[in-house]
Amino acid sequence: MSAPEALAFDMYGTLVDPIRIWKRLEQYLPDEALHIAEVWRQKQLEYTFRLTVMEKYEDFEQVTRKALDYALAAAGRELEADQKDALMDQYNDLERFADVEEGLRRLKEGGYQMVVFSNGAPRMLEALMDGAELRPYFEEYVSVDEVRVYKPSPKVYQHVAERLGRPIREVRLVSSNPFDDIGAEAAGMWAAWVDRSGGLFDTLGSPPEIVVGTLTELADALEVRRG
Ligand code: LAC
Repeated sequence: MSAPEALAFDMYGTLVDPIRIWKRLEQYLPDEALHIAEVWRQKQLEYTFRLTVMEKYEDFEQVTRKALDYALAAAGRELEADQKDALMDQYNDLERFADVEEGLRRLKEGGYQMVVFSNGAPRMLEALMDGAELRPYFEEYVSVDEVRVYKPSPKVYQHVAERLGRPIREVRLVSSNPFDDIGAEAAGMWAAWVDRSGGLFDTLGSPPEIVVGTLTELADALEVRRG
């Protein structure tokens, strides 16, 4: 029986669904909304990776706006400034996944020290913590903005462990994003992959030792381990 480890939860894609923003996009661009939402998310992440390699930093709100402009341009579409502002507001009010409430409740009852750990700028995370009603489950959130570098730099995983007051081997990242799981493990952290994509993991690494479909399954898996 092992002592409870600390759990650091990724936000976008793990707790709340960034692709669901297509529902809002659909009001403006009915035919291409889902495709644009997917390009928006991919470009957003690509920009964070590139900024990190260039050793530059722009916060996640700026990156998300620039990625939206790219996704619209790539589709040959334009939106008014107030429509883009409305989309950015919606980004701070994303829906949480259906399993989040029960999963987090059970994990909290299990005594785990839990934080949100995200690329999101503090302003974005503040809004989501309230909008998606996440505050009751978490001690706090840790934004990469505190170190001005993005996932998967090892610096951010070391930073969250420091903020938790734990050695990195006592922290487990919980993320649906394979690049995040691989990054955490490369930095010496444990990981659990919440597979919200139907089994497609990055071939750059292997899936972590814990693979689950939902946060309730994660609660089951961790209970079994503790015996
Ligand atoms: C985050 C992105 C990676 O929340 O989903 O950090």
